[in-house]
Amino acid sequence: MKKIFALILAILMVASLAACGGSNDATTADDSKPELVMGTNAAFPPYEFYDEDGETIIGIDAEIAQAVADKLGMTLTIKDMEFDSLLTAVQSGAVDIVFAGLTVNEERKQSVDFSMTYATGVQVIIVKEDSEIATVDDLAGKTIGVQAGTTGDIYCTDEFGQENVKQFTNGALAVAALQNGQVDCVVIDNEPAKSFVASNDGLKILDTEYAVEDYAAAISKDNTELTAKVNEAMEALKADGTIDKILAKYIKAE
Ligand code: ARG
Repeated sequence: MKKIFALILAILMVASLAACGGSNDATTADDSKPELVMGTNAAFPPYEFYDEDGETIIGIDAEIAQAVADKLGMTLTIKDMEFDSLLTAVQSGAVDIVFAGLTVNEERKQSVDFSMTYATGVQVIIVKEDSEIATVDDLAGKTIGVQAGTTGDIYCTDEFGQENVKQFTNGALAVAALQNGQVDCVVIDNEPAKSFVASNDGLKILDTEYAVEDYAAAISKDNTELTAKVNEAMEALKADGTIDKILAKYIKAE
């Protein structure tokens, strides 16, 4: 019995020495911090988009994720991917968390866990200034541009039929298709819609709310520990005003 005990002790000592060696090898403080890998689709201003340098992803989600990582003592890495592969990526562990202006819905809740919600999104309709489309009902029989896999895509496909919905990999491409007459309108979240309309001539957003939604981060159902930690961090960042400050920085009050 004593021998076994001594052996276990010896193994533990070697193991802990090895662990120390590992951290001593760390050259920068950051290397010793655990990594938080965030997946997003960075063509969704002001939530996530590329800075003028064309390399850095900035925006509301990038800043909230950074604040969460800081609170948890983690280093944030952002991976840009197709929107419709984000949930698979978090389920498979390719990324730890998705921040992507991601709408909470029942179907997605079957495959991932959501954090607390931090913003509201509204699905709106972008049309050309001289369009005859004025209400949601006018969309019947029209060709609708959407970003593939988004809630806008899901609603329009359900309501107006797949044959009337054209999917694009991002909102900017859907808006370009509207400009060149390939689609009659684009259904997308209101904040990116404002940004696309501001940077394109001759477009307007209809004064009608197609759907009102909540945004939250998504985490694997296998990682309940991370979900708990992220929620704790987000609650603190909500309470101390950090989240509101980040939202106000990118979304100017009307
Ligand atoms: N809120 C919509 C959804 O969850 C669209 C989100 C698109 N996000 C993005 N980063 N492209 O389906």
